[in-house]
Amino acid sequence: MKKVRISETVLRDANQSLIATRMPFSDFEGILETMDKAGYHSLECWGGATFDSCLRYLSEDPWERLRKIKDKVKNTPLQMLLRGQNILGYRHYPDDVVRMFVARSVDNGMDIFRIFDALNDFRNIRVAVDEVLKRNAHAQGAICYTTSPVHTLDNYAKLAKELEEMGVHSICIKDMAGICGPQEAYDIVKAIKETVKLPVYFHTHGTTGLGPITYYKAVEAGCDGIDCAISSFSNGTSQPPTETMNYALKQAGYETGLDDSITKKINDYFKPIKEKYVKSGQMDPFVMGVETDALVYQVPGGMLSNLIAQLKAQNALDRLDEVLEETPRVREDLGYPPLVTPMSQMVGVQAVLNVLAGERYKSVAKEVKAYLRGEYGKAPGKINPSLIEQILGDEEPITTRFADTLEPQFEKTKEELKGVARSDEDVLSYIAFPQIAEKFFKEREERECITVNYSIVKK
Ligand code: CO
Repeated sequence: MKKVRISETVLRDANQSLIATRMPFSDFEGILETMDKAGYHSLECWGGATFDSCLRYLSEDPWERLRKIKDKVKNTPLQMLLRGQNILGYRHYPDDVVRMFVARSVDNGMDIFRIFDALNDFRNIRVAVDEVLKRNAHAQGAICYTTSPVHTLDNYAKLAKELEEMGVHSICIKDMAGICGPQEAYDIVKAIKETVKLPVYFHTHGTTGLGPITYYKAVEAGCDGIDCAISSFSNGTSQPPTETMNYALKQAGYETGLDDSITKKINDYFKPIKEKYVKSGQMDPFVMGVETDALVYQVPGGMLSNLIAQLKAQNALDRLDEVLEETPRVREDLGYPPLVTPMSQMVGVQAVLNVLAGERYKSVAKEVKAYLRGEYGKAPGKINPSLIEQILGDEEPITTRFADTLEPQFEKTKEELKGVARSDEDVLSYIAFPQIAEKFFKEREERECITVNYSIVKK
């Protein structure tokens, strides 16, 4: 019987996609031991926005959260999403920071690292992958899915080959916008399976409604695992439902290893928690629905709502059609970057500027300039040469890896934080989000002070 494994995303991607990552540890602590028994391939529980949100909104130490999850989840591998050289943020970090981050993550309980770069420029994931391998953890290389004349099946197969040569243990096709159709998924998985010998995982979202059919066809093409969210936190901008996919796959003779009676318990646990978020307004029922405009415009749903918000702010919502026509032109000029953070914001902002200024590239966003200089990596296609000339003049774009230009940062920052940071983990939190971490450290100090005083009074 062919095996297809399911990863559960309720703690990370579903949490991030449906309620902006505001689920505190206390809301899921009580179900972790049960989740550990369900038979999941992995629990995705860290990375992405969880780190930022823990420090910024939830007064939680993200490292402590990881250790507390590991305490209860002893058998199922824990999984995280890592933005390669950007770790968890949007800028490139020096190699010593990337290595230290991976090393501490393994020490604190992380098992599987899904590592990607927004441009699929794998020079930007090489160091992270290398460190994961050194630490004997599982390195999964991810390929961002997008459509363009340069994103052909050959191109995807080539990217997969590159990952295999880098030594990753598995490959993930990451359809962050939920726009990959079933036939496309089938063709890509097949092309990759014919090229490399590694397990292939597929990641999509329910945004456009394609998710479950796309997964099904991916599995038919030989895909080894899919990402799902427990049904009360599934669909819409989240993942397709765990129980539904499990049911359909088992019926077709696939072995998933998931225990239905336990997934039922997990869903029963999360149902009232979802109700709580809907009632408090933290979960907008709109994000649970199907939104097919992304298929018409070929831009991710999140990007579409950003464009609308930007135009509204400038009182120019009537220019939306023009902006949506300009968006693919900007993307072409920039060499077809996948529309994932930060590229989706960059392309969107520039398309709005081009339309509202009445002249293309009259004003250019700072990030676009940095992109043209090569600071984000190599574009998948060819960047419009006249645009480079117009914006950079005589300045030559860099062709090497941007991180090669960065000085080591960890030891220096550790020195600066003497008396403030209590551990290497604190130093890493600070490097990733300086102001937020500083505020968090201060509040942690105050909280502990109050507890100490309180216990003195009690005596
Ligand atoms: Co996702």
